Amino acid sequence: MATLPILVAPDPRLKIKAKPVEVVDETVRKLLDDMLETMYAAPGIGLAAPQVGVAQRILVLDLAREGEPRQPMKIVNPEIVWASDEDTEHNEGCLSVPEHYADVVRPAEVKVRYLDENGASREVHASGLLATCIQHEMDHLEGVLFIDHISALRRNMILRKLLKAKRVSA
Ligand code: NI
Repeated sequence: MATLPILVAPDPRLKIKAKPVEVVDETVRKLLDDMLETMYAAPGIGLAAPQVGVAQRILVLDLAREGEPRQPMKIVNPEIVWASDEDTEHNEGCLSVPEHYADVVRPAEVKVRYLDENGASREVHASGLLATCIQHEMDHLEGVLFIDHISALRRNMILRKLLKAKRVSA
């Protein structure tokens, strides 16, 4: 396994619509493992393939708390098949938008159908933090960041700060 560089906004590769995976093969399984390692090292609770420069519909999650055993989720080609009418607001962050957080409103519960690392079809009924996190990661597959859900004023302020930080470190 290897850790991969995580893209930081603004970056055109974070705005691409990712393509469905045709076959869940060894290459995809290796990417899933590398993405998990990258996410744990960051550390983060979710990571989507576009964040490591791969425009494919792949994401990983692990919501286990510190000290708990790891609960890695490997998700390929996710689709929301049901969303609750009820919404919830959660303070979100993102490894591609480091050190910035904002409240985002999303459906409180979703049912997501996906392929696991063996290509088998699975379904998860997500609520609470998992529902928020899975929707946040699925947004990445559409080229959408959590800052796209907040006011343009605040988004542009965050992007300007990120750009400035990139120039300083370049
Ligand atoms: Ni993110």
